[in-house]
Amino acid sequence: MKPTFLCACPVATICLVLVAFAESRPFNSINKLLFSAQSLLGKHNGPVSQIMPPSDEVSTGVIISDVIGKTQDIAIFSGLTRDVDTISGRLEDAAQNATVLAPNNTAMKNLKRKPWEDPKDYEALGTGAYKGGDGEDRAHKNLRTFVEAHIVPQSPWEEGQKVKTLAGNEIWWEIKDGKKNIQPSDVEVTSIADKVSNGEVWIIGGSLV
Ligand SMILES: *[C@@H]1O[C@H](CO)[C@@H](O)[C@H](O)[C@H]1NC(C)=O
Ligand SMILES: *[C@@H]1O[C@H](CO)[C@@H](O)[C@H](O)[C@H]1NC(C)=O
Repeated sequence: MKPTFLCACPVATICLVLVAFAESRPFNSINKLLFSAQSLLGKHNGPVSQIMPPSDEVSTGVIISDVIGKTQDIAIFSGLTRDVDTISGRLEDAAQNATVLAPNNTAMKNLKRKPWEDPKDYEALGTGAYKGGDGEDRAHKNLRTFVEAHIVPQSPWEEGQKVKTLAGNEIWWEIKDGKKNIQPSDVEVTSIADKVSNGEVWIIGGSLV
């Protein structure tokens, strides 16, 4: 049973992000669809957490898409992974491994800009960069790139091994002063939320882009 009530709907992505960031400037037109962040995040997490208790061991037959919604600390990011079709497809594919580097909710709320914003769009198009149909398409594309920059298309992933994320940015990880950090951005891996048959979900303390 998956919490599908909001997933697979592009508008839901925007709503989730809007609610999470409590700002609505680019998307005033769909503002009326919004409801409280608490109920949204709560519902997103409820059903799955009952099915999958946390475990340190690899859960056979269980895949990333089954478990990513169960961790409250990454509810905002996991909501985004389910709303971008290409990402949810990848995480549902038992034959393709991935390591998901999920920024926790604090990191998502503290982003310097919204995950659908790109300064280049504002430079080229001004303040209306995300208005209208084209603007929404642009926002979705940026959102997808943001999520892809946090997905390593392999697991296991060894220390020091340089890999390209789905967005193409090169990263690696190392243990420094007893802490596991994603490089080159020096973002700490605070815990591993899940190890399942097609990969792992790591919780990180910041964003990689
Ligand atoms: C995919 O991940 C599983 C679980 O960690 C591992 O046993 C398997 O070897 C991985 N497959 C590949 C192709 O890396
Ligand atoms: C997110 O990670 C940062 C850095 O480790 C930490 O200070 C913050 O409390 C974490 N927030 C959540 C919701 O886990």
